[in-house]
Amino acid sequence: MVTIQDYLNSGVIDVVPLLSLALNKSHAQLIAYHDYQLNNEEKTQLNQLIKQRQTGTPFAYLSGKKGFYHLDFKVTPNTLIPRPETELLIDIALDLFDKNQIYEVLDLGTGSGIIAVTIGDKNPQWCLTATDFSIDTLNIAQQNAKTNIKFQLGNWFEATPNQTFDLIISNPPYIKQDDLHLNDLSFEPQSALVSGKNGLDDIRTIIDNAPQHLNKKGYLLLEHGFDQQQEITQLLSHNFFKIQKFKDYNHRNRAILAQIK
Ligand SMILES: C[S@@+](CC[C@H](N)C(=O)[O-])C[C@H]1O[C@@H](n2cnc3c(N)ncnc32)[C@H](O)[C@@H]1O
Repeated sequence: MVTIQDYLNSGVIDVVPLLSLALNKSHAQLIAYHDYQLNNEEKTQLNQLIKQRQTGTPFAYLSGKKGFYHLDFKVTPNTLIPRPETELLIDIALDLFDKNQIYEVLDLGTGSGIIAVTIGDKNPQWCLTATDFSIDTLNIAQQNAKTNIKFQLGNWFEATPNQTFDLIISNPPYIKQDDLHLNDLSFEPQSALVSGKNGLDDIRTIIDNAPQHLNKKGYLLLEHGFDQQQEITQLLSHNFFKIQKFKDYNHRNRAILAQIK
């Protein structure tokens, strides 16, 4: 293959974004310069990217970034790739409190930082804390921050000793350890995805410990697997009430919000 058009005709998976990445050209520029002949260096770089993509590397890890809500986030193989489903948590959180008042909000297991960074950017009055137990992940989240966010390292609430919040948000690992879908997710950190036999180990830990870290009338907001809502409602019922359930854009059960009793 010699020209951009040759590559466009090749049927290679993600060829347009791969060409854009290798040649630093927009989609429109690729079309406009479709008979441009790639030099040897460009061909070598593009062919390497194509090979990596064909062997399963997600495009976001090749480009090093992923869009989420209204922002672009740096991602590396140490961070989960942000999913559009998680935007639901942002919508629910932004609707919950007055934008102009001060609230303490915690993003537990922040990964690339999408939840804390997006909420902090939308509502700069709110005080954001973001945690993760992976230092590499937390470093990336820090690089993605646009506003002043407290980043704290540790295993779930061990990262926030003696701190309390008005809202705790988490998109924790929630996939069952023998789930066959994990085969398709092998490039992403398994510690961000898998949570014991039924996928609920981390959610249970968060629900059990959240009450000590919530202010009066505080809320817990969780993303979860499409088939976990009933069990999570049961787990929440001891210490929480006003439980609200939400579906994602594919009409699958995906999030749950509850207020401390
Ligand atoms: C499903 S990912 C979500 C990442 C990010 N919040 C998002 O929505 O893209 C779960 C995150 O929780 C972190 N995590 C997993 N187990 C943890 C633990 N025991 N304590 C703290 N963070 C943990 C992982 O490192 C990962 O970043």
